Amino acid sequence: MGEPIFLGVNVDHIATLRQARGTRYPDPVHAALEAERAGADGITMHLREDRRHIQDCDVERFAEMTQTKLNLEVASTPEMIAFALKVQPRDVCIVPEKREELTTEGGLNVLAIENEITALCETFSAAKIQTSLFIDPDYKQIDAAVRCGAPVVEIHTGRYADAHSTEERENELALIQAAAKHAAECGLVVNAGHGLHTHNIQPIAAIPTIHELNIGHALISDATFSGISMSVQNMKRLMIEARQS
Ligand code: PXP
Repeated sequence: MGEPIFLGVNVDHIATLRQARGTRYPDPVHAALEAERAGADGITMHLREDRRHIQDCDVERFAEMTQTKLNLEVASTPEMIAFALKVQPRDVCIVPEKREELTTEGGLNVLAIENEITALCETFSAAKIQTSLFIDPDYKQIDAAVRCGAPVVEIHTGRYADAHSTEERENELALIQAAAKHAAECGLVVNAGHGLHTHNIQPIAAIPTIHELNIGHALISDATFSGISMSVQNMKRLMIEARQS
């Protein structure tokens, strides 16, 4: 047995469904608590600038109730930094953010904003919040993260997940393996995530230096199918009962 590996569940897309209708359900905090009961080691919520899914009050409520840990994903903006300091999650993962993107498209260019990220890591460290930087599997970005004093990096697995051929996937996997080893040798905690599914998770989970995987879209999609037959049965039972009384 190697080192343990941890699962962080991203519940953003429960909130996507709620926001699509403007209702109070489904509640991402309820989903987060269920995920914790099922064995998730932590919960990720991405508070985007446009509030397209997770809302401030979701983060605030869950931060009070978590039985594991909250990993708050945000862009490095004064508004988000102030919010994180108020809510005090265990981890803050800094991601690049574009309004028009469907999801986080690439890693943070730490090299280009080293002073800003160094100050951020100092601020969060003084508040006992662990800073994680979401970066591509690139030695230059890892070295910059070390210079900034970040304790954690999360390696972007999106190019591996989206590879169009076996060769491309193998190449991307090799980059992630090398980056994870280098980051761990530099003393960083190494997480990874983006685009991971049941069919592509195992080569990534087998990388011994990876500590935690953060997974959202595929896991929430899969949950729909695990639950749909029970939901249909429940609804049908209620309808039939109504006719019998
Ligand atoms: N890690 C980070 C930093 C992300 O931005 C996301 C997407 O919100 C994920 C992990 C999860 O990616 P996915 O939803 O594709 O599993």
